[in-house]
Formats: sequence, structure tokens, C-alpha cells
Amino acid sequence: MILALDTSCDDTCAAVTAGSTVLSNVISSQAAAHERYGGVVPEVASRHHVELINPVVDAALAEADTTLDDVDAIAVTTRPGLIGALLVGVSTAKALAAAAGKPLIPVDHLLGHVAAAYLEPEPLRPPFLALIASGGHTLLAGVEDRDRYELLGQTLDDAAGEALDKAARLLGLGYPGGPAIQRCAADGDPSAFDFPVAMSRDPRLDFSFSGLKTALAYVVRDLSDQALAASRADLAASFQEAVVDQLVSKLARALDAGSWEAVALGGGVAANTSLRARAGRLCEERGVRLKLVEPELCTDNAAMIGAAAEYLPVLPFPDYLELDPIAR
Ligand code: KG4
Ligand code: ZN
Repeated sequence: MILALDTSCDDTCAAVTAGSTVLSNVISSQAAAHERYGGVVPEVASRHHVELINPVVDAALAEADTTLDDVDAIAVTTRPGLIGALLVGVSTAKALAAAAGKPLIPVDHLLGHVAAAYLEPEPLRPPFLALIASGGHTLLAGVEDRDRYELLGQTLDDAAGEALDKAARLLGLGYPGGPAIQRCAADGDPSAFDFPVAMSRDPRLDFSFSGLKTALAYVVRDLSDQALAASRADLAASFQEAVVDQLVSKLARALDAGSWEAVALGGGVAANTSLRARAGRLCEERGVRLKLVEPELCTDNAAMIGAAAEYLPVLPFPDYLELDPIAR
């Protein structure tokens, strides 16, 4: 049984996992604290983590009906993320581990997003191709072993979630942008506006989203407030479609380039219903298995950190006291 912590961005997360089973998964979202700024303010995030981490850990242990004494190890995200935010989780994990006489397992947040696929229901086993799209990262990874992945392609500028967050701000839809765009897009026509699908002719597996955001900024700039209100849903639907198009076309290209029999989607953007449906159709056409991680395990959480920790080296006391968080 592992107690896992993640404080890499603006969610304060703790979970208890046992193998592929999630015994508890507590997420205290700070979205309300950051909404007025239209994005995450690092110092605000750190301060909230300090206040929230102990009650969130207590809640995770209580929900799993266990105690610190009964867990085998403590896992924590040490990289990448906001440095001050990571520091809160790492310091807390060290203190808990030292006080309870438990070992510590440092985990890379992105490996955590991949490892969400190892959780119930219907856990996936390597080898598989993973598409991870979040607020900070967008990448395609070849997963042959559970303790690492091979980077096949990544974004050259903005992450997919970052593009959705910026688009939501331009459209006056609030933060976090991905879910807001998805809601607004439900009433819109995805073919109403023709946004560029970047990198479509580029044979590599890299992504680019910054041009898409600039294209939206130009369209919005030329619209009156009234015209923007009238076409907001169409803009949201068309923008979301362009983001999903790029993700799915690169996923298709990665499938062409390898001999993968399974695909996993992860990261906050993988909670998107349009992306899930489009990836579902692609995988059905190609005859490959698609593992759709539960939406609450796509966005940041600590259960995925526990899932990754199962297969990572364990540091005994006092070795982990030297551990520092790393931003990148
Ligand atoms: O994985 P995550 O929770 O945090 C990072 O590691 O970045 O991803 C957050 C990102 C945000 O950009 C958010 O707008 C996006 O995931 N997101 C979504 C949805 N839910 C969250 N994007 C599209 N559709 C969603 N339903
Ligand atoms: Zn994340």
C-alpha cells in the first residue's frame, strides 16, 4: 500500500493505492483561487498547498480506512512542475516518511500520467503508445517498460491544455479553459471557423499549438462584442476541433510508424469528450486497444503517482533527505 502525494501545479493531491487499485484519491482544486488571474499564479499555488496538504493527506488515509503506520512507502512527485509547489509535496513526504519510519519513492509527474493506465478498470500493461496532453506538456511516448518511456514527439511551443486555457481566456470563458471550451463547444459548429491544423505536413511526431492561439486572437480582435457573443460557441467548437485534429493525426502517424497494439490517453486534455471519441474511432479502425483513463485520473491526481511508484526504486531513510524538487 502506497501513500502518494502530488503538488506539482495547482491541485493539492493525495491518494492511497494498492497495486492497480485506488483506495482513495483526494484532490483539492485551487481553481477558484486562480480563476480571477486567468491562470495559475505560482506563489498563490504554493501558499495554498501549504494550507491544504495536511488535511488532504489525512482525508486520503481516512477514505482508504488506513493509517500512516500501515502504508509500505510514501511516493511523491519530485519533477517537473512549479518549484515552490513541488517543494511543499516533497518536504511533506520527507517529513511523513521520516516520522513514520517509511521509505520514499520519488516520481516524475509525466511518468505518473502514463501510469494512470495501470490503474483499474482494465489496467493496461506495456508495451503501448501513450499520448499525454496536459496544461504543461504534450507528448507521444513509447512505453516498453513500466519504469520509463521513450519520447517519440513533443510540443515545440505551447501544450495542448495551455492553448485551450489561453483560448478560453480570449473567449471570456474562464479557467480552467479545457472544460469551459468543451461545455461551450457543445452548442457550436466545429466547421464554422477554419483554424490551421499545425504540423499536419510535418512527418515528425512533434506538435505546435501557438499558431492556433494566435489565429484565434486575430479572429477575436476583429469581432465586435456582439459578434463575439453570437459566435462564441462556434469559435470554441472550431478551436477545440483544431486541437483534437492535431492530437489525433499525430497519434495516427505514430501508430503508422510503429507496431503498437494498444494506446493510452493521459493528462488533463485526455478528459475531453471529443478527443476520447475521435481516438476511439481511430483505434477501432486500426484494430488496436484503447485504454481511456477515467476523467478524474486524467487530470492531476496522486493515484497515478502511486501507480508509477509501484515499479520505481525505493529510497530508504536517510537517503531521501537529500532529495530536491526539479522544475523541468
Ligand atoms: O494534467 P493536468 O490536470 O495538469 C497538468 O499537468 O498540466 O492538465 C490540465 C489541463 C488544463 O489545461 C485544462 O484546461 C485541461 O487539462 N483540461 C481539459 C479538460 N479537462 C482539463 N482540456 C480539454 N477538455 C477537458 N475536458
Ligand atoms: Zn499533470
